[in-house]
Amino acid sequence: MWQNTPLARKLSIRYPIIGAPMAGGATTPELVAAISNAGGLGSLGAGYMQPEQIKKAIRKIKQLTNKPFAVNLFIPCDYRVTPQEIQLACTALNQSSTELKTTISACDYHDPPSYDEQLGVIIEEYVPIFSFTFGIPSTKDISRLKNNDILLIGTATTLTEALLLEENRIDMIVAQGYEAGGHRGTFLGIEEDALIGLISLVPQLADCINIPIIASGGIMDGKAIAASFSLGGSGVQMGTAFLTCLESGIHPKYKKTLLSQVKDNTVLTRAFSGKLARGIQNLFTKRMAHHLDTITDYPIQNSLTQKIRQKAKSLHSSDFMSMWAGQSAHLCKEVKAKELLKSLVDELNVIYNTN
Ligand SMILES: Cc1cc2nc3c(=O)[nH]c(=O)nc-3n(C[C@H](O)[C@H](O)[C@H](O)COP(=O)(O)O)c2cc1C
Repeated sequence: MWQNTPLARKLSIRYPIIGAPMAGGATTPELVAAISNAGGLGSLGAGYMQPEQIKKAIRKIKQLTNKPFAVNLFIPCDYRVTPQEIQLACTALNQSSTELKTTISACDYHDPPSYDEQLGVIIEEYVPIFSFTFGIPSTKDISRLKNNDILLIGTATTLTEALLLEENRIDMIVAQGYEAGGHRGTFLGIEEDALIGLISLVPQLADCINIPIIASGGIMDGKAIAASFSLGGSGVQMGTAFLTCLESGIHPKYKKTLLSQVKDNTVLTRAFSGKLARGIQNLFTKRMAHHLDTITDYPIQNSLTQKIRQKAKSLHSSDFMSMWAGQSAHLCKEVKAKELLKSLVDELNVIYNTN
């Protein structure tokens, strides 16, 4: 049976289909639980959440499902910035903030939530699976997580990163292809050198890595899942396809924009966060393409553009929202997560001639 893969067995799930963690509000407890209840693995994108909010969301997920689920965090990364660079970044954002009737200054920078405290909640709340991106947890944290029987899923965008994850005793690896929506998980070298398509990345990893590989990027239907299995993947992680599910928490305008796409209209940009990410092209990404040298490192830029993103939401303006999406966004459908899972399973049963 196609679904009985090492990944499905390791995660104790019926179908080797993971709903991607999507920080920023898409992966509501309802979406996470619906995916897990339908036989996949739901994941909470908790990277931007305060520890208390994570605790509340985990408890809600546990009320809604008794199936396994994952919580995902961002591994903190190094960044450098000077007061002059912050000033320059604010000036470059001026035109957009003025149009939205808000102001941005250096005072708008806030530190992101404490990773150590976020991780503490995951351990205290007995979360069964921890997934992460942008790096590798410290050896001490890996031991702590393993001592608490928490399975670990890392993210790689190159073979070198995947080898390092395996060497560090990570249990499974998401192979994030160039097609993927959201931030690049790259943590070794520069992101532009790690833009590898899934058809190249998955077999590279499958040939050299002995732990399950999870294909991720542009996967929207049964055909793409079957292709991922052929490439050596043991399962898939799908983000964009779940963004337009009824349980997803994204802004209605973002959802409407996704549902109205007719072809790939995505772009890789650092404009919103300072870290390379794929999303729907809009006025802000086009405008900031002329100010590339003013964009500060993540998480500074992310913090500086927060007001712009918030104001865009309150004004329902897709011109200034960050609308992360993969290259196959035009295949999005507005359905319940359970129905999406069912249609994927039905397509795979036809492809593999199983029932
Ligand atoms: C809106 C959005 C937010 C995302 N946030 C996260 C995140 O918090 N953590 C993470 O590991 N990956 C995140 N990703 C990347 C996904 O894990 C995955 O690689 C990607 O969705 C796959 O491409 P697809 O969107 O075409 O399916 C995000 C993707 C999207 C679209």
